[in-house]
Amino acid sequence: MRIDILTLLPATFTGVFDESILGAARRNGLIDIRIHPFRPYGEGRHRTVDDTPFGGGPGMVLKPGPLAAALADLRKDGPPAPVIGLTPQGHVFDQTMARELARLPRVILVCGRYEGFDERILPEFDLQISIGDYVLTGGEFPAMVVVDALSRMIPGTVGDPDSVREDSFFDGTLDHPQYTRPAIWQERAIPAVLRDGHHSRIADWRRGEALWRTVAHRPDLFRQLALSSRDRALLQDALANHSQSIPDKGA
Ligand SMILES: C[S@@+](CC[C@H](N)C(=O)[O-])C[C@H]1O[C@@H](n2cnc3c(N)ncnc32)[C@H](O)[C@@H]1O
Repeated sequence: MRIDILTLLPATFTGVFDESILGAARRNGLIDIRIHPFRPYGEGRHRTVDDTPFGGGPGMVLKPGPLAAALADLRKDGPPAPVIGLTPQGHVFDQTMARELARLPRVILVCGRYEGFDERILPEFDLQISIGDYVLTGGEFPAMVVVDALSRMIPGTVGDPDSVREDSFFDGTLDHPQYTRPAIWQERAIPAVLRDGHHSRIADWRRGEALWRTVAHRPDLFRQLALSSRDRALLQDALANHSQSIPDKGA
């Protein structure tokens, strides 16, 4: 998959995509990430990309012309790709979006700065993505978040595909608790079921715990789950362990 990122601050990305899973995926040709500064498309001798807001007010606004010119050049090179503007006013990014984007051969991400984009560039965007209800100084960190999350969804990027399937949000639940050695740490022992080597009992316990955590921490996600009768039984066991009863899904 190819990912093009338009930014005013290309150096921000230095090193971020070179390490660990993303670095290996790039070296193995699974992801091709290209960073494009759009300052060279700025206007005049100073390559101006921003100006004061019409109507007054604080800060500067990204001019539409330089971004449109940069996008036109990018579209000429490579397969067609949706243009995704990063903005706190976009659809809130989630695992489903990451999975859908990872199926595409290419995406173009546009990082804003200052007070954001001139409204007239928005028709150039096929999608606007926010990474959450808070405002950052620029779209570079949001772009890194989107690239990291969608890269994990590209088959082959993460060595063991089970690791991705068991992650939080993949099937709508949060992940089950994880433990590693030592089995007893500061008088805190791991759950006994994890020591008996009985794979189906471990799988049942993990599923029950994942459902319990989802009820307890993210009732909004829990309400969207279609529970099987086995799920309900496993959740009942987990709730009993945690001394609670199944909440009403409609609550
Ligand atoms: C300071 S913000 C502009 C905020 C804008 N005035 C508003 O209130 O909607 C500058 C740039 O940071 C990026 N940005 C900030 N927060 C973001 C978020 N939560 N998700 C995605 N991008 C964000 C966007 O690219 C935005 O254009």
